[in-house]
Amino acid sequence: MNTPSDHNTLDSLRQRLTAVAQLDASALEAEEIAVLGRKQGELTNQLKALAKLSIEEKRSVGAALNAIKLEFEAAFAARRAELAQGAQSAEARDLDLTMPGRTSWTGSRHPVSIVIDEIVGIFRELGFAVALGPDIENEERNFFALNFPPDHPALDMHDTLYLDQGKGEVPLGEKLLLRTHTSPVQVRVMRDGPPPYRVVIPGLAYRNDPFDASHAPAFSQIEGLAVDEGVTFVDLKATLSHFARRFFGESVKVRFRPSFFPFTEPSAEMDVSCTICGGSGCAACKGTGWLEILGCGMVHEQVLKNCGVDPEKYTGFAFGMGPARIAMLRYGLPDIRLLYGGDVRFLQQFGEIGT
Ligand code: DAH
Repeated sequence: MNTPSDHNTLDSLRQRLTAVAQLDASALEAEEIAVLGRKQGELTNQLKALAKLSIEEKRSVGAALNAIKLEFEAAFAARRAELAQGAQSAEARDLDLTMPGRTSWTGSRHPVSIVIDEIVGIFRELGFAVALGPDIENEERNFFALNFPPDHPALDMHDTLYLDQGKGEVPLGEKLLLRTHTSPVQVRVMRDGPPPYRVVIPGLAYRNDPFDASHAPAFSQIEGLAVDEGVTFVDLKATLSHFARRFFGESVKVRFRPSFFPFTEPSAEMDVSCTICGGSGCAACKGTGWLEILGCGMVHEQVLKNCGVDPEKYTGFAFGMGPARIAMLRYGLPDIRLLYGGDVRFLQQFGEIGT
C-alpha cells in the first residue's frame, strides 16, 4: 500500500482534485465517497495511516493531507453548486416566455338544448311535469291510437323508418319503428293512470327525410298534453299565448289558424309575429310578417277513448313544436344542418355553460 509520505499518493490525489471540476452529478457523488468516505475513502485511509509515521513526518505529511482534504471538500461543494445552477439554467433555456398561453376549453350547451330547457322551464312554471318515452315505438301507439287511419300516407315507407323485423332483438309480429313524432308519449301517459295530466315531453323524432336546409332525419320535438275536467280551447289559447310571450317577449303577437291533425279536433297552428322584422315582412317570414311555431288542438275524442280516458268527463288540449326550428328563428340561422353538423366552431358561439 502507498504510504502518506509517498509523493505518488499526493500527486495522484492532486490529479483527482483537478478532475472534480469536470465530473457529472453521479460521478461527483461516487468520487466524494471514494476520496472522503469515512470507511474506505482514499484520503481517510491516508489520514488513518499517519499513525504509523514518525512525529516529523506526521507534521509535514499530515499538514499536506489536511490541506488537500480541505481543497477536496471545497471542490466537491463548488462542483455541486455549479451542477445545480446548470440544471436550473437548462430549464430556463427551454422556457419561452413569449409563447402564448394555452387557453382552456370550456364546453357550451347546444343551442337546441338551450331552447328546449327554456321551453320546458316555462311550462314547468305553469305546473306541467316532464314525461319521456322511448325512441322505438310500435305502429299502434305512433299511429293508430292517435287516430291515424290505416291507409294514412305517413305510414308509408318513405316517411317512416321501420325496424327490420325478426333480426337481432326485434321480435317477429310487432311492427316497430322509430317514432315519427313525440305524440305516442301522450298515449303512454294517458294509459299509465287516470287524469288529470299536465305534461311536456321533450324528445327526438325520426323521419325518412334527407337532410336539407329545413329537414333533418332525426330532430327534437316538444309535445304537450293537458287533460282535466272542463279544459277548453280557451285554456289552450291562454296557455300557448302565455308561452309565446314568455319565450319571444311581451310585445310578440300571436294568431291561431285552423289546421288538421288526426289526433286533435279542432286543430290549429300557432303563429307569432316575425321575430326578425317585427311583422312588417322579411325573408325569414317570407313577407307575411308571421312565423309558424307549433301545431295544437283539442285532444280528439277517439284518442281519449283509445287511451282509456272517458271523453264525457274529460277534455284536453295538446301541442307539438320543433325546438330546432325555434332555435333557427331565435338565432337567425339559415340552415338546420348548422345545428346538427356538430361543428364546434359554430356551436361555441352560443357560449352558455350548462347550469
Ligand atoms: N305530432 C305533430 C307532428 O309531428 C305535431 C303536433 C301537432 C303535436 C298537434 C300535437 C298536436 O300534440 O296537438 O307534426
